[in-house]
Parts: sequence; structure tokens; C-alpha cells
Amino acid sequence: MSAGDSLYDLLMRPLEKRLLEKVRRSLMVRPRGMVLEIGVGTGANLPYYRYEYIDHLDLLDLTIGEKVRRHHYPDHLPLRFLEGQAEALPFADESYDFVVVSLVLCSVTDVMGSLAEIFRVLKPGGRFIFIEHVLPENQRLKNVFQRLTPLWKRMANQCHLNRETLDAIAATGFEQLELYPVYRDIFIGGVAHRPH
Ligand SMILES: C[S@@+](CC[C@H](N)C(=O)[O-])C[C@H]1O[C@@H](n2cnc3c(N)ncnc32)[C@H](O)[C@@H]1O
Repeated sequence: MSAGDSLYDLLMRPLEKRLLEKVRRSLMVRPRGMVLEIGVGTGANLPYYRYEYIDHLDLLDLTIGEKVRRHHYPDHLPLRFLEGQAEALPFADESYDFVVVSLVLCSVTDVMGSLAEIFRVLKPGGRFIFIEHVLPENQRLKNVFQRLTPLWKRMANQCHLNRETLDAIAATGFEQLELYPVYRDIFIGGVAHRPH
């Protein structure tokens, strides 16, 4: 594991324990069939997948780290590690039953472009699973998040605190959003359906 991966996992540990582990555990048991995870990072979702239901798993990130490559996957699971961008997915239309992202849409360069790509590569009826932090409704908090974003972006690898990701998901054409509030209306997990 690289020093960067170790540091990320160390910094994330309190958040994982207090908030994220539970939602990952609830949501990541769902993917089955053809599955794509975008922005796999250090592989925080990998322990929760029910691999027995997954026919094929593609893991994509800007770069794929050693920790993800060395994760213990079931023998015989068709698996690919791919380096690429959410904004230009190197896959054919309607390829996947499930696409997963967690803490990724806050830092992509183009949110709408990334969501359009996710929609495109999902099969009709396919599901998009996400865990993201979003701009809260409360006006005072919203102002704080807006003001902090320019500095935070530089400190936290282009992470934006001010993205209205749920609106963007709905605007892309996804339907039947099932939401799993993780912490207030700031951290949200969910499942969205690509219509048939
Ligand atoms: C905060 S980390 C989250 C990692 C992991 N998904 C998790 O839940 O801990 C964000 C990840 O998104 C990746 N990422 C950022 N922009 C991306 C893009 N445009 N396309 C694909 N991956 C991207 C980063 O390289 C990083 O691994």
C-alpha cells in the first residue's frame, strides 16, 4: 500500500467508523450481475460486496493503487482494473446492471458529464448506488459550505463542499431515488434507477 493510501485510510478512519461503514454495509450488498465502481480509491467498498452475486466487476479510477490490486477477490471473479475518468467512461452503452460511486462526485471535474456517462453505461432498469456529501438545506450551513469550498478544494484534492448532487442525479433522468441519510442532509447514500 502506498503512503498516500495509508494516510487517506488513517484520516478517514473516524468518519468510516462513525458514519460511512454502516451505509456502505447497507448499500454495497446490493450490486449484482455486471458491476462497475468508479473512483474506487483505496477500496473502501470492496469488503462489503456480495461477490457471489457479481458476474463481472470493473474497478476504475484515475490511477489504481496497490491496495485495490492486492485485495483478496474470489478466485474466478472476472475482474478488470481500469484507469480512466468518470467523464469519459471507456465502456459501451448499456453495459452494467449496477454502477457504484462513493465520495467521488464531489471531486470530479464535471458532475453532469459524469452522471450522463453513468446513465449511458447502465442498462435500462440498472441501478446507480452512491454515497456522497452534498450542500445542506440550512441556509447558514449552506453559506459556510459555499465560503469554505475554494480553500477546501485546494486542501482536499478538488473536493467541493457545495455540490447539489441529488438535484444533479434527478436532472440526469434517474428515477425512484431511494435515499439513506447518513448524517443530517450532508452525507447521503442512495440508489437511483435508470428507467426502462
Ligand atoms: C475521496 S476518494 C473516495 C474513494 C472511495 N470511493 C471511498 O469511498 O473512500 C475520491 C476518488 O475519486 C477519484 N476520482 C476523482 N476524480 C475522478 C474522475 N474524474 N474520474 C474517476 N475517478 C475520479 C479519485 O482518484 C479518488 O480515488
